[in-house]
Amino acid sequence: MITLAEVSKNFGNTRAVNNISFTVADGETLVLLGTSGCGKTTTLKMINRLIEPDAGTISINGQQINRDKPELLRRKIGYVMQNTGLFPHYTVAENIAVVPKLLKWDKEKTLGRTLELIEKFRLPKDCMELLPHQLSGGQQQRVGLARALVADPDIVLMDEPFGALDNVTRSGIQSEFKALEELKRKTIVMVTHDVQEAFELADRICLMDHGKIVQIGTPKDLLYKPVSEFARKFLDSQRLALEFKVITIKDIWEFLPLKLIKSEERALSSSTDVWSAMERLSSAGDYPVELFSDLETKQAKRINFQELSTAFHFYKQRAKYD
Ligand SMILES: Nc1ncnc2c1ncn2[C@@H]1O[C@H](COP(=O)(O)OP(=O)(O)O)[C@@H](O)[C@H]1O
Ligand SMILES: [Mg+2]
Repeated sequence: MITLAEVSKNFGNTRAVNNISFTVADGETLVLLGTSGCGKTTTLKMINRLIEPDAGTISINGQQINRDKPELLRRKIGYVMQNTGLFPHYTVAENIAVVPKLLKWDKEKTLGRTLELIEKFRLPKDCMELLPHQLSGGQQQRVGLARALVADPDIVLMDEPFGALDNVTRSGIQSEFKALEELKRKTIVMVTHDVQEAFELADRICLMDHGKIVQIGTPKDLLYKPVSEFARKFLDSQRLALEFKVITIKDIWEFLPLKLIKSEERALSSSTDVWSAMERLSSAGDYPVELFSDLETKQAKRINFQELSTAFHFYKQRAKYD
């Protein structure tokens, strides 16, 4: 759906983006990950032509984007700016209505869609006439998302969308975000410097450094097949936590003891990540109570905490030598 081919951008002597190429598939979430100044925002802004590249081409659905007027392009692409980017003197309703106004929607249609989004994002109904600063950080964040999604664009670009939030609010909104129907079919390019966030939300991660792509791949690829010392070190401080979240029961299934039983209703799905499974088992005590089932084979296994951590260990050993 989105293709960048050998794209570069300089600011004076700064090579902000240095010859990068990638493709984002239809419906995929690609996360641009890297430390401050590595070129993430510049890359994102070139996709909706807020910045024009010095070299290379960017295409959407096979069409080079510099053939269209930038205004037309931007109406088709939702954009969530760093630090929400809400207009401070516009009410919430006016902020959400920016794109509908450009598209010349009538008042009724705009109001209907605004109310729909306010409900979906669980914002208070009476917030429409408030100014952004009268809302909490998390609420402002949701308004920023609502504004980007109002015209139901196929593509959404997000620049550190949770960057301004404290950790508790952040993880709450991240899981809500993952569950949002409005976002499920969209092609998303998201920028973050937060490794956990990248792993939580990405289908694939594009790790950047000094304007270049270091590695692009699934969270599992980055964990177990780092292409360089830099890529490996980037994750090292959080490696174990990331593994718990990325590896699922399905991954470690063959290392779990063979105590097959008939699948029961209260079985957890095998797509459950190891972290969630451990939480569940640790609250169950020593007694092997929980069941995990593999949807494809309709098998279930009854396991305890110890068996789960042993299987996780074996999986990691193998992944290292694969
Ligand atoms: N408008 C600009 N003028 C000059 N330098 C810029 C401009 N925008 C970005 N840069 C520089 O380009 C590099 C990449 O910036 P940016 O894409 O914003 O990084 P990131 O979003 O990864 O933090 C940085 O060194 C930054 O200082
Ligand atoms: Mg940035």
